[in-house]
Amino acid sequence: MESLSVQNVDMVYNLPKGGSVHALSDVSFDLEAGRLLTLLGPSGCGKTTLLNIIAGFLAPTAGQVLLGGVPVTGPSRDRGMVFQQGALFEWQSVAKNISFGPRMSGKKHKDVLPEVESLLDVVGLQGFGDKQVYELSGGMQQRVALARCLANDPQMMLMDEPLGALDALTREKMQSLILSLWAETGKSVVLVTHSVEEALILGDVVFVMAPRPGRIEKVYELPFAKRALTEDPRTLKAGDDFQEVKEEILSFIWEMEEEIMGTEAGQ
Ligand SMILES: Nc1ncnc2c1ncn2[C@@H]1O[C@H](COP(=O)(O)OP(=O)(O)OP(=O)(O)O)[C@@H](O)[C@H]1O
Ligand SMILES: [Mg+2]
Repeated sequence: MESLSVQNVDMVYNLPKGGSVHALSDVSFDLEAGRLLTLLGPSGCGKTTLLNIIAGFLAPTAGQVLLGGVPVTGPSRDRGMVFQQGALFEWQSVAKNISFGPRMSGKKHKDVLPEVESLLDVVGLQGFGDKQVYELSGGMQQRVALARCLANDPQMMLMDEPLGALDALTREKMQSLILSLWAETGKSVVLVTHSVEEALILGDVVFVMAPRPGRIEKVYELPFAKRALTEDPRTLKAGDDFQEVKEEILSFIWEMEEEIMGTEAGQ
Protein backbone atom coordinates (compact mmCIF):
# COMPACT_ATOMS: atom_id res chain seq x y z
CA MET A 1 0.00 0.00 0.00
CA GLU A 2 1.27 3.43 -0.90
CA SER A 3 0.95 6.89 0.54
CA LEU A 4 -0.76 9.81 -1.16
CA SER A 5 0.88 13.18 -1.55
CA VAL A 6 -1.07 16.20 -2.76
CA GLN A 7 1.32 19.04 -3.50
CA ASN A 8 0.30 22.67 -4.00
CA VAL A 9 -2.76 21.79 -6.03
CA ASP A 10 -4.64 24.67 -7.63
CA MET A 11 -7.71 24.32 -9.79
CA VAL A 12 -9.22 27.09 -11.83
CA TYR A 13 -12.22 26.36 -14.05
CA ASN A 14 -12.56 28.68 -17.01
CA LEU A 15 -16.17 29.36 -17.74
CA PRO A 16 -17.43 29.14 -21.33
CA LYS A 17 -18.85 32.69 -21.24
CA GLY A 18 -15.68 34.16 -19.74
CA GLY A 19 -14.59 34.47 -16.15
CA SER A 20 -13.30 31.68 -13.97
CA VAL A 21 -13.87 29.84 -10.70
CA HIS A 22 -10.98 29.29 -8.33
CA ALA A 23 -12.12 25.88 -7.08
CA LEU A 24 -8.95 24.92 -5.14
CA SER A 25 -6.11 27.05 -3.90
CA ASP A 26 -2.73 25.64 -2.88
CA VAL A 27 -4.02 22.38 -1.41
CA SER A 28 -1.23 20.29 0.09
CA PHE A 29 -1.28 17.26 2.35
CA ASP A 30 0.21 13.81 2.81
CA LEU A 31 -1.89 10.80 3.68
CA GLU A 32 -0.21 7.65 4.91
CA ALA A 33 -1.37 4.38 3.35
CA GLY A 34 -4.28 2.74 5.10
CA ARG A 35 -5.89 5.85 6.51
CA LEU A 36 -9.49 6.91 6.11
CA LEU A 37 -9.78 10.59 5.25
CA THR A 38 -13.15 12.31 5.18
CA LEU A 39 -13.65 15.63 3.36
CA LEU A 40 -16.31 17.92 4.73
CA GLY A 41 -17.33 21.46 3.87
CA PRO A 42 -20.04 23.69 2.47
CA SER A 43 -21.36 23.15 -1.03
CA GLY A 44 -18.95 24.42 -3.66
CA CYS A 45 -15.78 24.27 -1.54
CA GLY A 46 -14.10 21.92 -3.99
CA LYS A 47 -14.58 18.46 -2.42
CA THR A 48 -15.56 16.75 -5.68
CA THR A 49 -12.90 18.67 -7.57
CA LEU A 50 -10.20 17.46 -5.17
CA LEU A 51 -11.46 13.87 -5.36
CA ASN A 52 -11.55 13.99 -9.17
CA ILE A 53 -7.99 15.31 -9.25
CA ILE A 54 -6.82 12.47 -6.97
CA ALA A 55 -8.72 10.01 -9.19
CA GLY A 56 -6.98 11.44 -12.25
CA PHE A 57 -10.26 12.44 -13.93
CA LEU A 58 -9.18 16.08 -13.81
CA ALA A 59 -5.73 17.60 -14.22
CA PRO A 60 -5.00 20.39 -11.73
CA THR A 61 -4.13 23.83 -13.07
CA ALA A 62 -1.02 23.76 -10.89
CA GLY A 63 0.63 21.35 -8.46
CA GLN A 64 0.60 17.58 -8.52
CA VAL A 65 -0.67 14.42 -6.89
CA LEU A 66 1.60 11.46 -6.20
CA LEU A 67 0.59 7.96 -5.18
CA GLY A 68 3.52 5.97 -3.86
CA GLY A 69 5.80 8.65 -5.25
CA VAL A 70 4.44 8.26 -8.79
CA PRO A 71 2.64 11.26 -10.34
CA VAL A 72 -1.06 10.74 -11.10
CA THR A 73 -1.60 11.53 -14.78
CA GLY A 74 -4.96 9.89 -15.40
CA PRO A 75 -7.44 7.35 -14.01
CA SER A 76 -6.04 4.00 -12.90
CA ARG A 77 -7.15 0.76 -11.25
CA ASP A 78 -5.04 1.85 -8.28
CA ARG A 79 -7.69 4.41 -7.44
CA GLY A 80 -11.27 3.12 -7.45
CA MET A 81 -14.22 5.47 -7.38
CA VAL A 82 -17.63 5.04 -5.76
CA PHE A 83 -20.23 7.66 -6.68
CA GLN A 84 -23.38 8.77 -4.90
CA GLN A 85 -25.76 6.72 -7.04
CA GLY A 86 -26.66 5.79 -10.56
CA ALA A 87 -23.19 4.76 -11.63
CA LEU A 88 -24.01 1.06 -12.03
CA PHE A 89 -24.74 -0.55 -15.38
CA GLU A 90 -28.51 -0.92 -15.27
CA TRP A 91 -28.57 -3.35 -18.16
CA GLN A 92 -26.22 -5.85 -16.55
CA SER A 93 -26.67 -8.26 -13.67
CA VAL A 94 -25.19 -7.55 -10.26
CA ALA A 95 -22.46 -10.15 -10.90
CA LYS A 96 -21.54 -8.58 -14.25
CA ASN A 97 -21.38 -5.15 -12.65
CA ILE A 98 -18.90 -6.51 -10.13
CA SER A 99 -16.81 -8.33 -12.73
CA PHE A 100 -16.64 -5.21 -14.92
CA GLY A 101 -13.10 -4.18 -13.88
CA PRO A 102 -11.56 -7.64 -14.22
CA ARG A 103 -13.34 -8.08 -17.60
CA MET A 104 -11.89 -4.75 -18.78
CA SER A 105 -8.46 -6.09 -17.95
CA GLY A 106 -9.07 -9.11 -20.18
CA LYS A 107 -10.46 -11.74 -17.80
CA LYS A 108 -13.56 -13.80 -18.59
CA HIS A 109 -16.67 -13.34 -16.47
CA LYS A 110 -16.88 -17.06 -15.66
CA ASP A 111 -13.26 -17.12 -14.53
CA VAL A 112 -13.84 -14.39 -11.95
CA LEU A 113 -17.14 -15.78 -10.64
CA PRO A 114 -15.56 -17.17 -7.44
CA GLU A 115 -14.12 -13.72 -6.75
CA VAL A 116 -17.51 -12.11 -7.49
CA GLU A 117 -19.18 -14.53 -5.06
CA SER A 118 -16.72 -13.71 -2.32
CA LEU A 119 -17.18 -9.97 -2.90
CA LEU A 120 -20.97 -10.42 -2.72
CA ASP A 121 -20.35 -12.09 0.60
CA VAL A 122 -18.10 -9.25 1.79
CA VAL A 123 -20.78 -6.62 1.09
CA GLY A 124 -23.62 -8.74 2.48
CA LEU A 125 -25.33 -9.59 -0.82
CA GLN A 126 -24.94 -13.36 -0.91
CA GLY A 127 -27.12 -14.88 -3.59
CA PHE A 128 -27.85 -11.58 -5.38
CA GLY A 129 -25.45 -12.10 -8.29
CA ASP A 130 -28.14 -12.90 -10.85
CA LYS A 131 -30.44 -10.01 -9.94
CA GLN A 132 -30.74 -6.98 -12.16
CA VAL A 133 -29.60 -3.65 -10.70
CA TYR A 134 -33.12 -2.15 -10.87
CA GLU A 135 -34.40 -4.95 -8.63
CA LEU A 136 -32.23 -3.72 -5.76
CA SER A 137 -32.87 -1.02 -3.16
CA GLY A 138 -30.62 2.06 -3.04
CA GLY A 139 -28.61 0.61 -0.17
CA MET A 140 -28.08 -2.67 -1.99
CA GLN A 141 -27.00 -0.81 -5.12
CA GLN A 142 -24.35 1.02 -3.11
CA ARG A 143 -23.16 -2.34 -1.79
CA VAL A 144 -22.75 -3.45 -5.42
CA ALA A 145 -20.86 -0.21 -6.16
CA LEU A 146 -18.47 -0.98 -3.29
CA ALA A 147 -17.98 -4.56 -4.49
CA ARG A 148 -17.37 -3.36 -8.05
CA CYS A 149 -14.72 -0.98 -6.77
CA LEU A 150 -13.07 -3.69 -4.63
CA ALA A 151 -12.98 -6.10 -7.59
CA ASN A 152 -10.12 -4.04 -9.06
CA ASP A 153 -8.22 -4.40 -5.78
CA PRO A 154 -7.37 -0.67 -5.76
CA GLN A 155 -4.78 0.87 -3.42
CA MET A 156 -7.18 3.60 -2.62
CA MET A 157 -10.97 3.91 -2.63
CA LEU A 158 -12.37 7.33 -3.48
CA MET A 159 -15.98 7.93 -2.56
CA ASP A 160 -18.06 11.00 -3.43
CA GLU A 161 -21.01 11.14 -1.03
CA PRO A 162 -21.52 7.38 -1.41
CA LEU A 163 -24.29 7.28 1.19
CA GLY A 164 -25.87 10.65 0.41
CA ALA A 165 -29.00 9.22 -1.19
CA LEU A 166 -29.81 6.65 1.49
CA ASP A 167 -32.31 6.75 4.35
CA ALA A 168 -30.91 7.23 7.86
CA LEU A 169 -31.02 3.59 8.96
CA THR A 170 -29.50 2.18 5.77
CA ARG A 171 -26.90 4.91 5.94
CA GLU A 172 -25.85 3.83 9.43
CA LYS A 173 -25.52 0.22 8.33
CA MET A 174 -23.45 1.27 5.31
CA GLN A 175 -21.18 3.39 7.50
CA SER A 176 -20.38 0.27 9.49
CA LEU A 177 -19.78 -1.67 6.27
CA ILE A 178 -17.35 0.98 5.00
CA LEU A 179 -15.51 0.91 8.33
CA SER A 180 -15.20 -2.86 8.32
CA LEU A 181 -14.04 -2.91 4.67
CA TRP A 182 -11.46 -0.29 5.52
CA ALA A 183 -10.19 -2.22 8.54
CA GLU A 184 -10.19 -5.60 6.80
CA THR A 185 -8.59 -4.56 3.52
CA GLY A 186 -6.15 -1.99 4.91
CA LYS A 187 -6.88 0.19 1.87
CA SER A 188 -6.71 3.96 2.00
CA VAL A 189 -10.07 5.68 1.68
CA VAL A 190 -10.94 9.28 0.83
CA LEU A 191 -14.63 9.91 1.38
CA VAL A 192 -16.61 13.09 0.71
CA THR A 193 -19.68 13.75 2.80
CA HIS A 194 -22.05 16.58 3.64
CA SER A 195 -22.82 15.06 7.01
CA VAL A 196 -20.67 16.22 9.93
CA GLU A 197 -21.69 13.16 11.92
CA GLU A 198 -20.68 10.84 9.09
CA ALA A 199 -17.34 12.62 8.62
CA LEU A 200 -16.57 12.18 12.31
CA ILE A 201 -17.58 8.55 12.69
CA LEU A 202 -15.80 7.46 9.48
CA GLY A 203 -12.79 9.74 9.39
CA ASP A 204 -9.67 8.85 11.23
CA VAL A 205 -8.54 12.05 9.59
CA VAL A 206 -11.10 14.78 8.83
CA PHE A 207 -10.46 17.82 6.65
CA VAL A 208 -12.91 20.68 6.96
CA MET A 209 -12.73 22.68 3.74
CA ALA A 210 -13.69 26.29 3.10
CA PRO A 211 -14.82 27.87 -0.18
CA ARG A 212 -13.77 30.79 -2.38
CA PRO A 213 -11.20 29.65 -3.05
CA GLY A 214 -11.55 26.03 -1.93
CA ARG A 215 -8.96 25.12 0.67
CA ILE A 216 -8.36 22.91 3.70
CA GLU A 217 -9.20 24.98 6.74
CA LYS A 218 -9.05 22.52 9.64
CA VAL A 219 -7.57 19.07 10.17
CA TYR A 220 -8.76 16.67 12.86
CA GLU A 221 -7.24 13.32 13.80
CA LEU A 222 -10.00 11.45 15.57
CA PRO A 223 -10.38 8.15 17.44
CA PHE A 224 -14.01 7.43 16.57
CA ALA A 225 -13.55 5.44 13.33
CA LYS A 226 -11.25 2.93 14.99
CA ARG A 227 -13.40 2.77 18.10
CA ALA A 228 -16.52 2.17 15.99
CA LEU A 229 -14.98 -1.12 14.81
CA THR A 230 -15.48 -2.61 18.26
CA GLU A 231 -17.93 -0.25 19.99
CA ASP A 232 -21.52 0.59 19.11
CA PRO A 233 -21.38 3.55 16.67
CA ARG A 234 -24.64 4.97 17.96
CA THR A 235 -23.35 5.10 21.53
CA LEU A 236 -20.13 6.68 20.27
CA LYS A 237 -22.08 9.35 18.37
CA ALA A 238 -24.01 10.18 21.54
CA GLY A 239 -20.85 10.58 23.64
CA ASP A 240 -19.74 13.99 24.95
CA ASP A 241 -16.36 13.88 23.16
CA PHE A 242 -18.08 13.19 19.80
CA GLN A 243 -20.73 15.85 20.35
CA GLU A 244 -18.13 18.42 21.29
CA VAL A 245 -16.20 18.10 18.00
CA LYS A 246 -19.48 17.90 16.09
CA GLU A 247 -20.70 21.18 17.59
CA GLU A 248 -17.36 22.87 16.91
CA ILE A 249 -17.39 21.87 13.24
CA LEU A 250 -21.08 22.63 12.78
CA SER A 251 -20.70 26.17 14.08
CA PHE A 252 -17.60 26.66 11.95
CA ILE A 253 -19.45 25.56 8.80
CA TRP A 254 -22.47 27.61 9.83
CA GLU A 255 -20.29 30.73 10.07
CA MET A 256 -18.75 30.02 6.67
CA GLU A 257 -22.20 29.64 5.09
CA GLU A 258 -23.41 32.87 6.71
CA GLU A 259 -20.38 34.60 5.25
CA ILE A 260 -21.07 33.17 1.78
CA MET A 261 -24.73 34.23 1.94
CA GLY A 262 -23.61 37.69 3.07
CA THR A 263 -21.22 38.00 0.15
CA GLU A 264 -23.84 36.76 -2.31
CA ALA A 265 -26.46 39.16 -0.97
CA GLY A 266 -24.02 42.03 -1.33
CA GLN A 267 -23.16 41.21 -4.95
N1 LIG B 1 -16.76 21.74 -14.64
C1 LIG B 1 -16.86 22.89 -13.97
N2 LIG B 1 -16.84 24.07 -14.62
C2 LIG B 1 -16.91 25.25 -13.95
N3 LIG B 1 -17.00 25.35 -12.60
C3 LIG B 1 -17.02 24.20 -11.90
C4 LIG B 1 -16.96 22.92 -12.54
N4 LIG B 1 -17.00 21.95 -11.58
C5 LIG B 1 -17.09 22.62 -10.40
N5 LIG B 1 -17.09 23.95 -10.59
C6 LIG B 1 -17.13 24.99 -9.53
O1 LIG B 1 -16.02 24.77 -8.68
C7 LIG B 1 -16.39 24.96 -7.31
C8 LIG B 1 -16.15 23.66 -6.57
O2 LIG B 1 -17.04 22.66 -7.05
P1 LIG B 1 -17.11 21.19 -6.46
O3 LIG B 1 -18.11 20.44 -7.26
O4 LIG B 1 -15.75 20.62 -6.38
O5 LIG B 1 -17.66 21.48 -4.98
P2 LIG B 1 -18.20 20.47 -3.87
O6 LIG B 1 -17.52 20.86 -2.61
O7 LIG B 1 -18.08 19.08 -4.33
O8 LIG B 1 -19.74 20.89 -3.77
P3 LIG B 1 -21.03 20.01 -3.38
O9 LIG B 1 -20.93 19.83 -1.90
O10 LIG B 1 -22.18 20.87 -3.78
O11 LIG B 1 -20.95 18.71 -4.13
C9 LIG B 1 -17.85 25.39 -7.32
O12 LIG B 1 -17.88 26.79 -7.28
C10 LIG B 1 -18.35 24.88 -8.65
O13 LIG B 1 -19.40 25.69 -9.14
MG1 LIG C 1 -19.47 17.54 -4.74
